[in-house]
Amino acid sequence: MTDDILKKLGGSLASQILETVDTLVVILDRYGEVIFFNRACQLLSGFTTEEAIGRKVWDFLILDEEIDAVRRTFEKLTAGNAPAHFTNYWKTKNGAPRIIEWSNNTLKDEDGSPAYILGTGIDITETRSKEAALYESKSFLRSIVDASPVAIITSDEKGTMLSFSRKAEVIFGYKESEALGQNLTLLIPEPDRSRHDQYLNHYLETGERRVIGKARQVMALNKNGERFPVALHTNEFHDGERIFIGFIEDRSEQIATEQRLEDIKNQLQHMGRISAMGEIAASIAHELGQPLTAAASLAGAVSLTLRKVEFPQRDDAISHLNETVSEIRRASEIIRQMRDFMRKHKTAKSLHDVNHVVEEAIAIALIGAEAGGVHVTTNLGSDVGEAALDRIQIQQVIINLIRNSIDAMQDVEEKHLTISTAKRGGFIEVKVSDTGHGFSDSVKKRLFEPFFTTKEEGMGIGLAISKSIIDAHQGEIIIVETESLGAMFIIKLPVGDYDETTENQ
Ligand SMILES: Nc1ncnc2c1ncn2[C@@H]1O[C@H](COP(=O)(O)OP(=O)(O)OP(=O)(O)O)[C@@H](O)[C@H]1O
Ligand SMILES: [Mg+2]
Repeated sequence: MTDDILKKLGGSLASQILETVDTLVVILDRYGEVIFFNRACQLLSGFTTEEAIGRKVWDFLILDEEIDAVRRTFEKLTAGNAPAHFTNYWKTKNGAPRIIEWSNNTLKDEDGSPAYILGTGIDITETRSKEAALYESKSFLRSIVDASPVAIITSDEKGTMLSFSRKAEVIFGYKESEALGQNLTLLIPEPDRSRHDQYLNHYLETGERRVIGKARQVMALNKNGERFPVALHTNEFHDGERIFIGFIEDRSEQIATEQRLEDIKNQLQHMGRISAMGEIAASIAHELGQPLTAAASLAGAVSLTLRKVEFPQRDDAISHLNETVSEIRRASEIIRQMRDFMRKHKTAKSLHDVNHVVEEAIAIALIGAEAGGVHVTTNLGSDVGEAALDRIQIQQVIINLIRNSIDAMQDVEEKHLTISTAKRGGFIEVKVSDTGHGFSDSVKKRLFEPFFTTKEEGMGIGLAISKSIIDAHQGEIIIVETESLGAMFIIKLPVGDYDETTENQ
């Protein structure tokens, strides 16, 4: 038989062709022994024809773990019901495995029984490893894209979405499967939505970059039809065709926080003015009260004296003086009423998480401060909890303390500001300390006096207002003596709730 087929092949054109082609050509007899092993096989395996011919293929060419599978396939081939295609490893002479994709054929005897197996194979080792590498790099890239905290979306030239990262799913509410194949306009609210095609065409025609390569603040649209602000950065790359890539960051929370801080700042300024007016009115009333009282009693005394002397129009003079006294009294009364009115500002208390209130105040007070080299440490006690307080007023107090500290550290080298909260003996304490210039005993005595300031730009009402606010909270504001330079203030607020409102008297 063997001779038969070899004779058929021997010297023929067919045999020469088989020797020259790059394809692997092996012929096995019905026992699995190699009877033909072309040049391509020799080159790939490292075995010469002499070494291969007459040996069972699984005795030298097949990887141990594949021997069984190869034998089973061989049996099926000889039984005539063979899989036409088969992939397995060849163990080369130097031990390196190669992956071969086989196309098999069974050659029959004259009596029709399978006599030879003809296998033609291609070495796909390189292709496979390239595919594997490509697959790996693709899945690696996908993991990066999915891990990105910014949403990443790619589209083709027409705006058809090609990929939609996990974060994109989160912020837009669409599943990747819903978004793919749809146009980017799905995510764009009007009026930009209608113009988007125009924008794209304009860019494709003119190459003029309005958006590409730039970061912009725009509005986006989620699946619920809600608009939200995003920071959008777009770019393009070429992967056979032009691909647009967008990096999108949801800015709603950030903008809401900024807005909230802005609101609080405005409220604080407003409250600050009202409180300041109250303090100013109180102080004016106090300053004016004494001279007015004195003027009234002096005028009264003159009127009494005049009764004892006789002169023309004496009664007129006395009556004018009495009117003067009553006008002065009226002025005093107006001032007193004004003071009462200004100070009758109510403190609106409700339960607040003190740490949260403090954190917000710090954020506002520090705007612009960190650039000035102030090193800030916050140490908020985990068990602090809630207190009944007027948030705006308490924040005003904390902000003034922090600003005072920052002012006091302007000319010192070591600028350390420490803000901490703690719960101690029925009180929540907020402590603000600094490494500034501190104050002398004489300054210390006057800290809480309205209009006492050592600053050129200061009004000197910060601590005075703070004191009245803290008093209205049944709390205490104290200065702590420290060994080192700097100042330390502690605000003590009672834990738990009490009257909804208390008059700030
Ligand atoms: N941390 C501090 N270190 C040193 N001195 C301080 C500190 N805090 C307050 N002072 C002194 O107390 C004075 C009064 O402070 P207060 O906050 O009442 O008014 P101000 O800061 O001068 O002006 P403003 O009305 O703008 O707050 C300050 O001028 C300063 O001399
Ligand atoms: Mg101040």
